[in-house]
Amino acid sequence: MIIAVDGPAASGKGTIARALARHYGLLHLDTGLLYRAVGMTVARQGGDADNPADAAAACAFPDSLLADPALRSEEAGPLASRVSRHPQVRAALLERQRAFAAQPGGAVLDGRDIGTVIAPDADAKLFVTASLAVRAQRRHAELSAHGNPVALEALSADLAERDARDMQRADAPLKQAQDADLLDTSNLSIDAAVQHAIALVDARLKSRH
Ligand code: CDP
Repeated sequence: MIIAVDGPAASGKGTIARALARHYGLLHLDTGLLYRAVGMTVARQGGDADNPADAAAACAFPDSLLADPALRSEEAGPLASRVSRHPQVRAALLERQRAFAAQPGGAVLDGRDIGTVIAPDADAKLFVTASLAVRAQRRHAELSAHGNPVALEALSADLAERDARDMQRADAPLKQAQDADLLDTSNLSIDAAVQHAIALVDARLKSRH
């Protein structure tokens, strides 16, 4: 069984995807980490994230980099978004994601193009969103909890810019797949969002049998 979870930054998709993986006993892949790894590698090599050749050269990063906490930093998000625009980068990361999705027993993948490109035949697809104001608040709380407060306005501007870049790129833009269920988490607690997600997936699985 494959479950695809897509949506914009700080929508709650990662938390929901991890909870779904636990609930259904599946392995989980946060595909954003792969793009973050490429973005950080470009930066560390002194390259330019907007340059396709620099970005493509950074795709051969070692698996061990995926455990580097720097990938979760605020600096890595925009770098990931910039390298993810290049078709060469998306192509280089495609097989890795497809192989993960195809493993025996199935998997939960979260990202931007899982339901549309990576796993178009997924058994259940969720498109998780929340208002920009709520997403900025969440990111603010998360960063403050880690002792790294960033002004709300700056976070909001960064999220809006990243969403626009992700939705407007030509290759695999962020969008809801036709057969995905929309889950707006703006007014939901984490528990409530997870319960809704499980109910939506259960309904999809039932309708398939
Ligand atoms: O955690 P957050 O939602 O802030 O970001 P992320 O999921 O780690 O993704 C970082 C960036 O990688 C996104 O802004 C996208 O530009 C890119 N990405 C993508 O293009 N396709 C994916 N499947 C996952 C991430």
